[in-house]
Amino acid sequence: MGRLNKRKQTKERIRVQASGSTSAALESEANVSMDSKRRASENNIVAPTNTALMQSEAIVMSAPRRRHAFETNSLDHCETPLCAYEHIQPVLQHIARQLHVPPRQLRIWDPYYCDGAVKRHLSVLGFDNVINQNIDFYQRIKDNDIPPHDVIVTNPPYSENHIEKLLHFVTSKNNKPFCLLMPNWVARKAEYSSLMGNATNHLLYLSPIQPYTYTMPSWNTKPEHVQETGETTPYLSSWYISFPDTATLTTMEKRLDSIAKRQQPPVWVVAKTVKGLKWKIQKANKKKE
Ligand SMILES: C[S@@+](CC[C@H](N)C(=O)[O-])C[C@H]1O[C@@H](n2cnc3c(N)ncnc32)[C@H](O)[C@@H]1O
Repeated sequence: MGRLNKRKQTKERIRVQASGSTSAALESEANVSMDSKRRASENNIVAPTNTALMQSEAIVMSAPRRRHAFETNSLDHCETPLCAYEHIQPVLQHIARQLHVPPRQLRIWDPYYCDGAVKRHLSVLGFDNVINQNIDFYQRIKDNDIPPHDVIVTNPPYSENHIEKLLHFVTSKNNKPFCLLMPNWVARKAEYSSLMGNATNHLLYLSPIQPYTYTMPSWNTKPEHVQETGETTPYLSSWYISFPDTATLTTMEKRLDSIAKRQQPPVWVVAKTVKGLKWKIQKANKKKE
C-alpha cells in the first residue's frame, strides 16, 4: 500500500513538473539540473537535459555522456592559438604548391581533438580542408582507419605517453610531412633521437620569440596556473617540422630563414637544432633592444 502511494506521488510529481505549474516542483527540478550541470562541468561531461529526467515513470537519471570519445586528462585540454598556425603558413603553402592544389584543398589532419578550434583558425588562413574529429586516434591506428591526408599538423597531449605514441606513428607508420607543436623539453629527452628515428635528420624547428599562449576551453576545470580567461603559457614550445625528403627540407629551411630575417620586429626563428633556436632567439631579442 505504502509502495503504491509512493508510486502515485512520483507520477504526480512528474506530471506537475512536466506541466510546469508548481514553482516548488520547478525549483526542485532546477536544483537537480543545476547540480548535475555543476558535477558534469567538474568532470568534463555533458549534463543530461531536463527532458531526459522526465522520460520514465520513475526519475531515472540517464548515464552522463562523456564529452570525448576517449579517456582524457583535463590538464591536456589546451587549444593552439591562431598565431602559431600563422607561423607555419609558408610551410603549408609550400606543401600545397608541391601537390599542385590550392591551399583550401590541402588535406590537413590534426588527430588530437579538444574543442575544434584548429578548424576555425586554419580556415581563417585559407585552409578549409582540416580533419579534426572527436575520434580516438589510437583506435584509428589499430583499425587502420587513417583519414586520407597530405600533412599532419597537431599539438598533442603532453601527459602519459601520448608524445611517444605520436612520434612512433609519424616516424614509422605514416610517410607524410608533419608539423608538431611540442614543448622544447621533448628534444632534450635522453631517448629523443631513438623516438625520432630516421626523422632526426629531416627536421626543422620553428620557435616563436614570445612563447605561445594556449587557451583552455571554458567547460574544462581550470588548474591554478590557468587564468580566468582560460589562457596559459605552460612551456616554451616549438614546431617540429619534417618532410620525408631532404631536398624539400633544405628548400624550406632557406625559405623560412629568409622570411624570418625580414621580420620587423622579429616574430619567430627557424633552426636545425633546438640549441640553434635558443641562440637565434637570444640574437633576435638583442636586436629588439
Ligand atoms: C593539447 S590539446 C590540443 C588540441 C588540438 N590538437 C589543438 O592543437 O588545439 C590535446 C588534446 O588531445 C585530446 N586527446 C587525448 N587523447 C586522445 C585520443 N586518444 N584521440 C584523440 N584525441 C585525444 C585531448 O582531448 C586534448 O584536448
